[in-house]
Amino acid sequence: MMISTAPAPLPVEPPSGCPFEPPAEFAALRTAEPISKISLPDGSWAWLATRYTDIRAILGDTRFSSDTTVPGYPLSGMTGGAATENRGFIRRDPPEHTRLRRMVTREFMVKRVEALRPEIQRITDELCDAMERADGRERGGVDLVEALALPVPSLVISLLLGVPYDDHDIFQRLTGKLLSRTIADGEREAARIELRDYLDQLVTTKEAAPGDDILGRLIVEQQRTGEITHDEVAAFAALLLIAGHETTANMIGLSALTLMRDPESAGRLRQEPGLIRGAVEELLRFHSIIRNGPRRVATADIEIDGHLIRAGEGVVVAVASANRDESVFADADRLDVCRPNAQHHVAFGYGIHQCLGQALARVELQVVIGTLLRRFPTMRPAVPDDEIPFRTDMAIYGCHALPVTW
Ligand code: HEM
Repeated sequence: MMISTAPAPLPVEPPSGCPFEPPAEFAALRTAEPISKISLPDGSWAWLATRYTDIRAILGDTRFSSDTTVPGYPLSGMTGGAATENRGFIRRDPPEHTRLRRMVTREFMVKRVEALRPEIQRITDELCDAMERADGRERGGVDLVEALALPVPSLVISLLLGVPYDDHDIFQRLTGKLLSRTIADGEREAARIELRDYLDQLVTTKEAAPGDDILGRLIVEQQRTGEITHDEVAAFAALLLIAGHETTANMIGLSALTLMRDPESAGRLRQEPGLIRGAVEELLRFHSIIRNGPRRVATADIEIDGHLIRAGEGVVVAVASANRDESVFADADRLDVCRPNAQHHVAFGYGIHQCLGQALARVELQVVIGTLLRRFPTMRPAVPDDEIPFRTDMAIYGCHALPVTW
């Protein structure tokens, strides 16, 4: 006799007392039921994939669609607003995905991004100078998120896109709402519309005088030649602006906190700065800040590890679980800044949608972490762990604020 039980909800909360850890359910599922059914907030269900090999198989197979308009796509509980029209290429399939992504690939190539390293260092140094002037010792704490983790990636992506950084209050407030799991759908939709209107206005201004920046080049090379529309330029801006600062900002905050709590690893990196590149890969693996995705919908009946996923069924692909898979990463729950295969993580996804901004994120993380270790060797949290507001309410994990002193 078959006993039917309702699927458990998608696990998103870290285990109690371990704010760094991915949901505890992942480890059990990897062993007992690596492809399992989960329920979503609206009562619908989807598959949840938790093993590294299955996750690479799903993300590497274009029969799993990223298109949120395909019936069965598991939208429930996802953040970013309900927009299905004019969505960025992250939510499209080939050939449209390939055509649009190609228009900006060169902007994020390793060589191009490496050339930005001195500018990223300059921005980081200036923000660190300001932190020193504020002096965390006397003021009882400086918020590292506000002082450094958010402004570095935000300034860099604003500069690259040609978005006025003076408007950062606007786009940070709105993207914060878009990525919240806990605000009402209506409020999130209102934020999406406000961001769309802001970017619409910005693109109109830039059409009159396109600058030497990504949006300017898209207008001159693609929009004026009729390959994309005004709205599509705005969709590029929205995707790159949101993806370009929220993610890296949270990785900076979490990484800084981890290293403050692990003086042995921090000391090692301070002595051998050459290890920082590898340490950044390990921090990306360890934290895996995308906590409830990516997501896909099957467009054909596909067998994954003996499980039949039928056309029209949704899949939540838990990269945070794949990165703790013991069959790939020995002693996976331990942070090892010298781990030899850390770079095999899937924190940037896998397959055709693999993160476009990964080279940029890497340089930003390497510069900021290296600079913090060098300039603030005695930095420590100014409050106990249970007073740090961890982002359990957001799709991208991290800390809302991180008070530090030195
Ligand atoms: C530590 C920081 C970052 C993490 C962990 C991260 C993670 C990810 C992941 C997991 C995906 C795949 C989504 C999917 O398969 O559906 C992705 C895609 C993407 N990321 Fe990032 N990202 C980071 C930083 C950035 C930055 C700095 C940018 C700058 C523009 C960026 C732009 C993008 C874009 C445009 C896509 C869509 C690619 C496509 O669909 O072809 N990301 N990112």
